[in-house]
Amino acid sequence: MTRLAVVAACLAGYAAAFPRLESHLLSRAAAPPQGAGALPVTPPPFDASAQLVSTSGQYAFVPPGPGDARGECPGLNAMANHGYLPHNGYATIAQFTEACQTVFGMGADLAAFLAVYGAVVDGDLTAWSIGGLPHTGIGGSHNDYEADSSPLHADLYQYGNLYTLPKSQASQLLNMQSDASTANYNLEVLREFRATRFQQSVSENPKFFYGPFTGMAVSQAAFTFIYRFMANKSSEAPEGILNQDVLKSFYALSGTNDDVSWSGCHNRIPDNWYKRNTVDAYTIPYFLTDVLYFSETFPQLNGVGCNNGSVNTYDTISVSTLTNGAYTAAEVAANPICFALEYAAADVPSLTGLPTAELGPLASVLSSATSELKCKPIAAINKGALEACPGFTLYGGPTAPVAKGAIQPS
Ligand SMILES: *[C@@H]1O[C@H](CO)[C@@H](O)[C@H](O)[C@H]1NC(C)=O
Ligand SMILES: *[C@@H]1O[C@H](CO)[C@@H](O)[C@H](O)[C@H]1NC(C)=O
Repeated sequence: MTRLAVVAACLAGYAAAFPRLESHLLSRAAAPPQGAGALPVTPPPFDASAQLVSTSGQYAFVPPGPGDARGECPGLNAMANHGYLPHNGYATIAQFTEACQTVFGMGADLAAFLAVYGAVVDGDLTAWSIGGLPHTGIGGSHNDYEADSSPLHADLYQYGNLYTLPKSQASQLLNMQSDASTANYNLEVLREFRATRFQQSVSENPKFFYGPFTGMAVSQAAFTFIYRFMANKSSEAPEGILNQDVLKSFYALSGTNDDVSWSGCHNRIPDNWYKRNTVDAYTIPYFLTDVLYFSETFPQLNGVGCNNGSVNTYDTISVSTLTNGAYTAAEVAANPICFALEYAAADVPSLTGLPTAELGPLASVLSSATSELKCKPIAAINKGALEACPGFTLYGGPTAPVAKGAIQPS
């Protein structure tokens, strides 16, 4: 059995992102409630033959065997189970980038960033594991690339590991659209679930930590990716519908909504499933609009904070103190992804201990993302501001010395 993470590090084709940004935002203002939130004003095109994802021949499902790494990202596991990534779960930057383009329609900017970040923070600079141990994969990467308040996976401190999938969380999500004939786990549903999961971490995980990059960007992506990547696109619904069967297939779930079984890492791409159109690739600016959509109803998502060692003690950390005045809380709320990426850029040298020359590829993908979004840099971060967060230093995966005194679900 292997570990799972929160980062759907999947990757792909880049569309001209900026004109779309505005249309995504406009669509939100006009969207009716219940089920239609956050759809684009102009539906994307649909091309069945280009968007059908093969699950046969060399891409047939093969469950992982001994020695195959699998982790907490359902999308990465599914790609390895179907041969879009190496079956052993260890892939190069180019393989991650290519696979996420081929399978999910991720934007090249997001794909490259997620792949390179993994290689630098959790790998050997060129490749990394979708499971793995500390510094060799995302399973050993809590608070570096994996985070608390994941949709379906566990908070590390609360459960003693970060890859298990508490049935209560799966039931909760499934029951948000309990009628299987009409269910669609779209962004509106996920926005509500996201807020619920945040509040659960506050009330159940004494060491809940919502960090500048892992919380505000990675854990948010874990929610938006569910609909944006797993939804089945069609000519009737080119932006996609995510029904119960498709959601369960990607997450390796079976059973009823109230009595869910989880088969570990047997995540499957459903047969007859259609990905995003290449002109509708999910880019970093597109992701930003989704994060802003989430925070419309739950502004706390756009700030750093933690519990102080006891549940229900969540307090925010001053972003101004954390960035030595580079960002105000209002600036962070206006563009949380700029803040998260600039924080990552400033943090990575001390986080990894690597010389600047070896950080070049990551600096390069980060700077193309932040210049596209016109972000304000952070010259130096003040990590002392995070000392109030005991969860901040909780690091590592299943083999790390963590989670003593973890509280168990009731
Ligand atoms: C995706 O949608 C198409 C068109 O409605 C349908 O034929 C196909 O079965 C769907 N795929 C899945 C996996 O539900
Ligand atoms: C944590 O916060 C609570 C409530 O604000 C406070 O009573 C408690 O003293 C704090 N504990 C620590 C260790 O700071």
